[in-house]
Amino acid sequence: HSKLTAYETDFLIVGSGIAGLYTALKAVAYGRVTILTKRKVSDSNTQLAQGGIAAAIGRRDSPTLHLQDTLTAGAGLNDISAVKVMVSEGPGRVEELIQMGTQFDTVEGALALTREGAHSRRRILHASGDATGEEIRRSLLDQCRKHKDINILEDTQVSDILLNRQGQCFGVVAWHAEKGLHSFYSAVTVLATGGNGQLYKYSTNPEVTTGDGIAAAFRAGAELMDLEFIQFHPTALTKEGIPPFLISEAVRGEGAQLLNSEGIRFMPKYHQLAELAPRDVVALAIWKEMMNTGAPSVFLDLSTIKSNDFASRFPVIYKTCRSFGINVPEEKIPVAPAAHYLMGGVRTDINGRTNIARLFACGEAACNGVHGANRLASNSLLEGLVFGSHIVEAARPWLKEKPDYCLETLSTGSAIYDTLPTGEAPWEADEVAQRIQKVMWESVGLWRSSDTLEKAAQELEIVDLQQASRGNVSRAFEAANMLLLGKLTVRAAELRKESRGGHYRVDEPESKSLWLRHIVQVL
Ligand code: SIN
Repeated sequence: HSKLTAYETDFLIVGSGIAGLYTALKAVAYGRVTILTKRKVSDSNTQLAQGGIAAAIGRRDSPTLHLQDTLTAGAGLNDISAVKVMVSEGPGRVEELIQMGTQFDTVEGALALTREGAHSRRRILHASGDATGEEIRRSLLDQCRKHKDINILEDTQVSDILLNRQGQCFGVVAWHAEKGLHSFYSAVTVLATGGNGQLYKYSTNPEVTTGDGIAAAFRAGAELMDLEFIQFHPTALTKEGIPPFLISEAVRGEGAQLLNSEGIRFMPKYHQLAELAPRDVVALAIWKEMMNTGAPSVFLDLSTIKSNDFASRFPVIYKTCRSFGINVPEEKIPVAPAAHYLMGGVRTDINGRTNIARLFACGEAACNGVHGANRLASNSLLEGLVFGSHIVEAARPWLKEKPDYCLETLSTGSAIYDTLPTGEAPWEADEVAQRIQKVMWESVGLWRSSDTLEKAAQELEIVDLQQASRGNVSRAFEAANMLLLGKLTVRAAELRKESRGGHYRVDEPESKSLWLRHIVQVL
């Protein structure tokens, strides 16, 4: 360890999505801030967010209605105090974003609000049509760059969390392709590393979402909660040879309808809200229709959209579909579900505290129970925004005294450290990652059963991390994290013998009151 070059800061924030950038802006009032990000600062789910950000700002809306919708989608497992914080502070935080320069779309001078699944009101703000996340990232990053005390280090991948003799976190170890392994010391560490959508072969998430922060937290002794609850977005563009591409729920919010491969509209027979039912309901209905017809997708029919200019309301979707030869809006879009969001994560209280002193988590990497078993659309950007300032307030007392920068143990738990990857056979780590993605998609995906979960457990057991360690270093770390989180997800999904929200078991299709509880896993 003494060989590692140390770098020191007050707030170390890992991740550069909305949760990381916003927390940095709050933290810089009290100390020096360093943001570590695995690739470029814009490689995040935030950047790709389309539909928007939910906030109860409409005249006929209220935080109470937003609370009710969030609880209904969450299927009995939300932490109500966390939801109250999010929905009541949401409008003020969105106002703050506007003050910081985020330009949301307007209609006749008022903020434009769209609808998405399971929202009882129009309450989704959007920017540049369907490039909402990019606009939010732009404005937050512009603000961060104005502060000389916010330092952003790209291409820096967290590998493990540093713990001292008192069991306190004092930073992380991170990997940089040219500089190798480095220690980053800090008084306070905030994991804002996002989720683990890349655990699955088909995902709407960018390549960076391999759950690195969550896995590192677990290895250090942090509690993880609700890992079995994975949200599958119902409508990702599905075409042979191209990765899934998100088709925002807002497209259905504006009136698009789902047809099966025989051209028949099916959602009304599954739920009274039809295409705007909660996501878990729509995703499962699509899967059932695909099973019944044997087709690889269903179709999104845009002809029922009321707005007469699809290209300007959804420019990113318009351009992307056309680039793949789908002539929207005239042509229907082939869509199927894809992994989208992890409701679970590092267990925190509503101030982002984990069970490890000086270690906090925020955004998708965290699980404070705000989403319950199924997240309501467009609540994730909101979550990333609202809890950052609570974290900074809760973390401030730790700044008074520096932690003991003295390593007790570096519990890696991953075979990767035993033989630090050589990079001689770069494809090997990727092969391992792909094997994990296939197992997770086929056996721990949209639906599970005790049989598929047993099969997944066996297949993950024989995955060989030594093979990954002959590969690209960064990918080898990712594969180790994916394997760990894959196994923990299987274990939670096996334990939860019921169906609820983002966890559907064909062998246990009902929700059970016995299971109105969380599964917490710790080393
Ligand atoms: C979408 O635009 O459909 C994604 C919104 C979300 O996941 O919250």
